[in-house]
Amino acid sequence: MTLVKGIRIHSHGGPDVMSWEDIELAPPGPGEARVRHTAIALNFSDINVRRGGFYQKDPLPMPIILGNEAAGVVESVGEGVTDVRVGERVGYVGVGSNFFAKTGAYAQQRNVPAERLVKLPDNVSDLQAASVMLKGLTASNIINRIYRPAAGDTVLIHAAASGVGLLLTQWCKHYGAAVIGTVGNEAKAQIARDHGLDHAVLYRQTDFVQAVKAIIPGGVRAVLDGVGKDTFIPSMDCTAPFGTLVNYGNASGHVPPVDIMLLSLKGTLSMWRPGVSHFLGDPVRFKSLCVELFELVGSGVLKTAATRTYALSDAMKAHRDAEAAQHAGPVVLLP
Ligand SMILES: NC(=O)c1ccc[n+]([C@@H]2O[C@H](COP(=O)([O-])OP(=O)(O)OC[C@H]3O[C@@H](n4cnc5c(N)ncnc54)[C@H](OP(=O)(O)O)[C@@H]3O)[C@@H](O)[C@H]2O)c1
Repeated sequence: MTLVKGIRIHSHGGPDVMSWEDIELAPPGPGEARVRHTAIALNFSDINVRRGGFYQKDPLPMPIILGNEAAGVVESVGEGVTDVRVGERVGYVGVGSNFFAKTGAYAQQRNVPAERLVKLPDNVSDLQAASVMLKGLTASNIINRIYRPAAGDTVLIHAAASGVGLLLTQWCKHYGAAVIGTVGNEAKAQIARDHGLDHAVLYRQTDFVQAVKAIIPGGVRAVLDGVGKDTFIPSMDCTAPFGTLVNYGNASGHVPPVDIMLLSLKGTLSMWRPGVSHFLGDPVRFKSLCVELFELVGSGVLKTAATRTYALSDAMKAHRDAEAAQHAGPVVLLP
C-alpha cells in the first residue's frame, strides 16, 4: 500500500464536510495505471456530488474522494496495460460511464483504468488540460452535436465568465457568431470580453431579457445556459423563432418542469438538456474528441489564461468561493 493525501467526505453537506486525509492506495490492478496527479480540475459537479442527491437516486457509499478529472504522469502500470507507459503525461475525465458515481481525483495519486487515459500533446500543459477537458468537452457536446453556430448568428451564453462559459464564448466566436453573455459583475464582464464576448449583460442588476432584446430585437438563435433555475424559462422570451435552448447546468438550481406548449407559444423553439456522461462514456469517443479540443487549445483558439489555482489541501476554500460565484474561468487544484 502507498499512503497519499487527498480530500475526502464522510457525509454529504457544505464545504465543511471536506477533510484532508491520508489515503491508502493499493498497487494498480490489471488494466489500471497509477497516475501521479499534477493538476486536478474543480468542476461544479464536484459541488453537486458533495451536496448529495443531485445525480444519484441511491446514496453513494461513504467515504468518497471527490473529483472526476485530472492530469498527471503515469507512475506504474498493472498487468496487461499496453495503452500507456511509465513517465507519459496523461489526463482523464471520469473512470466509467456514469462517472459521477466513481469519483476520486482529489488525491495526490490514483489508479485509473488505462483505457480512460488520454495522452497529452507537448503543446498542451497539464494545467491547460485540467482546465479544459470536462468543461471543453461539455462545450464540444453542445457545439458538435446540438447547435453549431454560424457566421451571422447571435448567441446568448449565461454565466459567460464561468469555466464552461468562457470556452463556449470562444468556440462560438471561432465559428463567426456574435455572443451576448450574462455575467455577475463588471470584473467578470471584462474577463469575458478578453475572451471575445461582444456584449456583456450584468444580469444581477438589469433585466437580461430586455437587455438582449435591445441588442437584437428579433431574438438570439440559441441560448446556452449553465445557470438553470434563474435563467432558463425567461430566456424563451429573447429567443428567435425556431431557436434552440440548451440547458447544460444548474448552478442556480434545477429548471422547473416545462409545459411543452410553451415551446410553441414562444416561437417553435427546441429544447435540449445534454449530460456529458453519455457523451464521454465511450473511452474511444472521449479520446477522439480530445484530439479536436487539444488542437483548439494548442493553436490558441481556446485560451485558458484565466485559470485560477488553489492548493489541493485548500479545496474546501475553492468550493466555498465557487458556491459564492467568485470564480471567473476554470479552477485547478494543485497537489
Ligand atoms: N451538462 C454537463 O454534462 C455539464 C458538464 C460540466 C459542467 N456543467 C455545468 O456547467 C455549469 C458551469 O460549470 P463550471 O464548472 O464552468 O462552473 P463555474 O466556473 O463555477 O461557474 C458557475 C457560474 O454560475 C453562475 N451562477 C449563477 N447562479 C449561481 C449560484 N447560485 N451559485 C453559484 N454560481 C452561480 C456564476 O457566474 P455569475 O457570477 O456570472 O452569475 C458562477 O461563476 C454548471 O452548472 C455545471 O454543473 C454541466
